[in-house]
Amino acid sequence: MLEIKNLNIEFHDHLVPETVVHDLNLSVEQGEIVGLVGESGSGKSMTALAVAGLLRRHDMKKTGQILFEGQNLLECGRSELRKLQGSEISMIFQEPMTSLNPVRRIGWQVEEALKLHTELGKEERRARALEVLSQVELQDPERVYRAYPHELSGGMRQRVMIAAAIVCRPKLLIADEPTTALDVTIQAQIVRLLQKINRESRVAVLFISHDLSLVRQLCSRVAVMQNGYLVEAGNTEDIFRNPGEEYTRQLIAAIPKIERGGKEGNAT
Ligand SMILES: Nc1ncnc2c1ncn2[C@@H]1O[C@H](COP(=O)(O)OP(=O)(O)OP(=O)(O)O)[C@@H](O)[C@H]1O
Ligand SMILES: [Mg+2]
Repeated sequence: MLEIKNLNIEFHDHLVPETVVHDLNLSVEQGEIVGLVGESGSGKSMTALAVAGLLRRHDMKKTGQILFEGQNLLECGRSELRKLQGSEISMIFQEPMTSLNPVRRIGWQVEEALKLHTELGKEERRARALEVLSQVELQDPERVYRAYPHELSGGMRQRVMIAAAIVCRPKLLIADEPTTALDVTIQAQIVRLLQKINRESRVAVLFISHDLSLVRQLCSRVAVMQNGYLVEAGNTEDIFRNPGEEYTRQLIAAIPKIERGGKEGNAT
């Protein structure tokens, strides 16, 4: 469904061009959850933003291909891209407060994509918004529908973001550190929610995280980036049990033992 081929991303905003993603190859199949990990600055967000069509600055150069159902997103016009954004490909970010509009009620914000991408009338939009608010397991969807962002907790806001992202039933959801700003209990709930949504609606997820134990729980495959290069990719369990690269080994070794599971974790 998504096939990234030989992707290069270069910045030209300094005297010397800087390549932040080098010759990246990565694919995501329909309904699959793929993890993207690597240290800070390794190029994960740049890759995600390029796929979501949100890296369209004039001082950047992107080469290669980002094929979404066979269509190269790097060659798409602005209006074609806008048609895909929020309907076929959606993105959720780390901090929901920056993506939610503080002066609009939640219902309005969840319905926004429906207004843009569907012919649904007012009542149908409201029904779909309430449906998706309950799908993300918000108690009392009617109340949340009428609330403003500041009236909700951080965890609830992230659920709202997920609801808004899936309201048009996208085929691909890109989640860039969706749980980093939340406490551990809420993190686990959001991960379970993404799992449930993936199962229910067969949406593929590209899950970006620093948290390798979350990635191991959630993702069937994982890709590891370092300094803009993909260093390793494959089946998550294979890579966790038997990392092929020293860099991956170090990332895994950095996970607290108790979370790592397996024999070693149990022994301590
Ligand atoms: N305007 C810019 N000009 C040049 N380089 C930039 C610019 N913006 C970002 N970068 C560089 O791009 C690289 C990749 O950044 P990116 O945000 O993709 O990393 P990341 O893997 O998402 O990190 P994190 O885990 O901290 O979110 C970084 O080294 C960053 O310094
Ligand atoms: Mg990032």
